[in-house]
Amino acid sequence: MPTLFDAHPDPRPDAVIAPGAVWLPGFLDLRQQAWLADRFREWAAGPVPARAAAIHGKPMSVRTVCLGWHWRPYEYTRTAIDVNGNPVLPFPDWMVRLGRSAVEAAATVEETAAGSTLLRGTAADGGGAGPSSSGNPGPTQSYTPDAALANWYDADARMGMHQDRDEVSRAPVVSLSIGDACTFRFGNSDNRNRPYRDVVLESGDAFVFGGASRLAYHGVTAVHAGTAPDGCGLEAGRINITLRETGLG
Ligand code: SIN
Ligand code: MN
Repeated sequence: MPTLFDAHPDPRPDAVIAPGAVWLPGFLDLRQQAWLADRFREWAAGPVPARAAAIHGKPMSVRTVCLGWHWRPYEYTRTAIDVNGNPVLPFPDWMVRLGRSAVEAAATVEETAAGSTLLRGTAADGGGAGPSSSGNPGPTQSYTPDAALANWYDADARMGMHQDRDEVSRAPVVSLSIGDACTFRFGNSDNRNRPYRDVVLESGDAFVFGGASRLAYHGVTAVHAGTAPDGCGLEAGRINITLRETGLG
């Protein structure tokens, strides 16, 4: 007979996907997701509209609006030189705090995982896994993201495997997802191929990658239409917001 004290394993526990890469399912509650979806609609209305950036002349299938710094492939600028020349919206303080709390949560998950590896005595590095040897996402208090790329995916949009390497800083990237789930492919730092892991990012999930995974190739192979939960602020489609520290003055 089932009892009140039976263990029900969390179907989507926080997880270390690679050293320095931590998946935080359900990091944002529905109210926060809906609020961010409203902000996204405001940002996309201007002064710089969301646009499909072109890579080698070919438009991406996602539409992007930026905060803090304007990104176009391989470069950050203060004004949207490939859109309408307007300055982008400032990077909000609340977003710095949000980024810090995700980095902090990821560091805790990674430290806990390193500790439990130690208890089991199976640490790959010979049992000495600790915060300093784990590829930990990085110091949390000083994390000060200053650029956000907010991407809009319709059901057919994808993102090819790439590295986030236009930043001077190697502080972690924080990714937040709202709306339809997607398959997020997180790979290695050498090339676009295996080994990689596929993770289904759902509405409200955060994914932090720093440390040894900061330059890992990653991409989105599918958006799963019809999976946006009621109340998340989106009926269909997906918003992904990545926070970055550019290291630019
Ligand atoms: C990105 O790599 O910039 C976006 C990743 C995502 O949409 O989850
Ligand atoms: Mn990226």
